Amino acid sequence: MVVANRKMNGDIPSNQLFLEKLVAETQLHQQADYVVCMPHPYLYQAQSILEHTHIHWGGQNMSRYQSGAHTGSVSPPMLKEFGCKYVIIGHSERRMHGHDTDLSTGERFEVAVKSGLIPIFCMGETLEEYEDGATDIVTIRQLNAVIHEIGVQGLAGGILAYEPVWAIGTGKAATPEHAQNVLGFLRGHIEILDAELAQNIRILYGGSVNSLNAKQLFDMPDIDGALVGTASLNPEEFIAICLAASNAS
Ligand code: 13P
Repeated sequence: MVVANRKMNGDIPSNQLFLEKLVAETQLHQQADYVVCMPHPYLYQAQSILEHTHIHWGGQNMSRYQSGAHTGSVSPPMLKEFGCKYVIIGHSERRMHGHDTDLSTGERFEVAVKSGLIPIFCMGETLEEYEDGATDIVTIRQLNAVIHEIGVQGLAGGILAYEPVWAIGTGKAATPEHAQNVLGFLRGHIEILDAELAQNIRILYGGSVNSLNAKQLFDMPDIDGALVGTASLNPEEFIAICLAASNAS
């Protein structure tokens, strides 16, 4: 699976070029799933271009509330109305700058599932935590916040993504071995609680994934795909990652 997180980028003309090219050039390579998470104002455009194609789309965040006095927020039914199948929850940029906490991300994971959306739940440590050897402690704490909220079986309704903060937007992707170790560790943690779920749940890696490192990452046994930021802004780069995923499947 390859997910584009377009973050706060794009405009109507460049989105159109990107989405149409993505549909056309992945048409014959559908062994992987492709998702584009757009800024909210462009969800209608994504829906117009992508409905009736093999590409899915989603939001980058959502409120835990269904409606009401929450200025600037977007509710699960609104995402659904614009055809979203997925929503990113707990991205580190929102944890750092948007006041997302372990508790609020766990709650919104549950709300997303109950609203019929598939949450793409992000976990990852900062550079300081990485240097302190705290990767496992931090990611498990973040994952346990969801398990606490929804129970281990509830994880089945979502997708997990390990995104080390130090690899996001830096051009310094985690080595495939490091990413594999962390994803293997997370899967092992789930396995203790539910072995079948551990086998089936998708876990993605994100952080400076590009067309050059994608194949090596996808070759790792526990890496089920990628969450892609910067490289999703370049259609050729992103399509090359999609094709790498399709060929790896
Ligand atoms: P980059 O691919 O730019 O490192 O961003 C990764 C990311 O944050 C995806 O959610």
